[in-house]
Amino acid sequence: MYIQSTSSVTFVLFGGTGDLSMRKILPALYEAHRAGMLTASGKIVAVARHEDDRASYLQWVNEHVKARVAKNGLDESAWATFIDRIEYVKLDLGCAEDFVKLRDALQDLAGTRVFYLATGPSLFVPICRALASVGLNENARIVLEKPLGYDLRSSNAINDAVGEIFAEEQIYRIDHYLGKEPVQNLLALRFGNALFEPLWRREWVESIQITIAEELGVEARGDFYDNTGALRDMVQNHLLQLLSIVAMEPPHSMDSDSVRDEKLRVLRALKPIDPRDISKVAVRGQYHAGVIRGTAVPAYATEHGVKPDSATETFVALKVEIENWRWAGVPFFLRTGKRLADRVAEIVVNFRAVPHSALGASALRAGANRLVIRLQPNETIRLYCLAKKPGEGMNLSSVHLDLAFDQFFKEGQMEAYQRLLLDVINGRLALFVRRDEQEAAWKWVEPILNDWAASGKPKPYAAGTWGPTAASAMLAQHGTCWLEEEN
Ligand code: BG6
Repeated sequence: MYIQSTSSVTFVLFGGTGDLSMRKILPALYEAHRAGMLTASGKIVAVARHEDDRASYLQWVNEHVKARVAKNGLDESAWATFIDRIEYVKLDLGCAEDFVKLRDALQDLAGTRVFYLATGPSLFVPICRALASVGLNENARIVLEKPLGYDLRSSNAINDAVGEIFAEEQIYRIDHYLGKEPVQNLLALRFGNALFEPLWRREWVESIQITIAEELGVEARGDFYDNTGALRDMVQNHLLQLLSIVAMEPPHSMDSDSVRDEKLRVLRALKPIDPRDISKVAVRGQYHAGVIRGTAVPAYATEHGVKPDSATETFVALKVEIENWRWAGVPFFLRTGKRLADRVAEIVVNFRAVPHSALGASALRAGANRLVIRLQPNETIRLYCLAKKPGEGMNLSSVHLDLAFDQFFKEGQMEAYQRLLLDVINGRLALFVRRDEQEAAWKWVEPILNDWAASGKPKPYAAGTWGPTAASAMLAQHGTCWLEEEN
């Protein structure tokens, strides 16, 4: 599906020496280049303050990026031609003349311009304004990294200001979860198969769980994370986007606005949270010292860049409801956290038990159907069914059908950033977050943000566990439990 892009694009990377450029963007561009997915003439213009000239920037790229892309064996000749694509402009964001210099440097480069802002959100507006001051916003595309803002107000302020300079069709808001192959597969599962769709509703589904669990802590990002927390870092974007894909109505086509309209309907139908009920539907936690895979890890409050008395949450569990005909009354349980027992992203659809068991009590004891969609690691879909145990009597047991994608498809998965960058280059917006979706998500999380900012502290949990016990208690009230606790 991803053919070589037909239109030539000049890819301008702000934050060219930043962590994201090093870990994600440049490796993804290299992979696209190596796979022949970029036009021969397309240039990458890195913009940064730290390196003096192209030679020293290329040295930085060789030192910091080459080893990453070489993990699976380096194609030296592809690397050499990739390096040939890279130009460098040293630029001080506060200096208007530097933007004139940038415009001059771009003048002779053909094709649509893509400006990727791999910088902090506080720089989005100044950069956009400076680009506009030298006319570089015309016919260009702009890519904004998350987090876009800190709350509804600040995100609106950024969107308003950027919106004065770029039209909505020029703006690509990244949520890298939307670029993940398994998330694409979720759309294929739901809308490419007649089997699941009739059952995908309140009559047949009892509850749904969505988990994004990480073993990693805050790494070198303590300072950023301590001012952000899991609700802003993971729930407002990745988890609510996954929820909207799980719950959306079938779109009439896969064009960008059809898909985004349906996701938006879900986000707007989320049952607003009554501030008086927050402790019943939301749990926050913060990790203390613990052990992960045999290694002792420190408490969040002692991580570099984190305030010792920090009240920032590193874990969130929520009960969410969707107020529409398809989902009324079905609880969606979401959770995410750092330093949990395992790294896993998974969607669990718990179906209702049969309405009448002609097979007797053992059938009911054996449970009900369940579909487990594992997004990472090892993408799989597992369908739990009930089967008769061999031997005398009608005794049922839960068994499962497994679909492991790597057994069917030998080609490796495309990395999320590679897919998303190719989409920007080719002008496809479907996998980017539209402003109204983003607003609806901020609006929904806002009562929780406000409540947590005003009072209380997160509940402690030991690193290497599944979070505070209150998260399990919340599900127990609904007669269910998080899936991993059963295994
Ligand atoms: C990012 C968050 O958006 O997603 C990080 O800022 C988090 O805190 C990361 O670790 C998780 O992404 P993935 O692709 O590793 O699941």
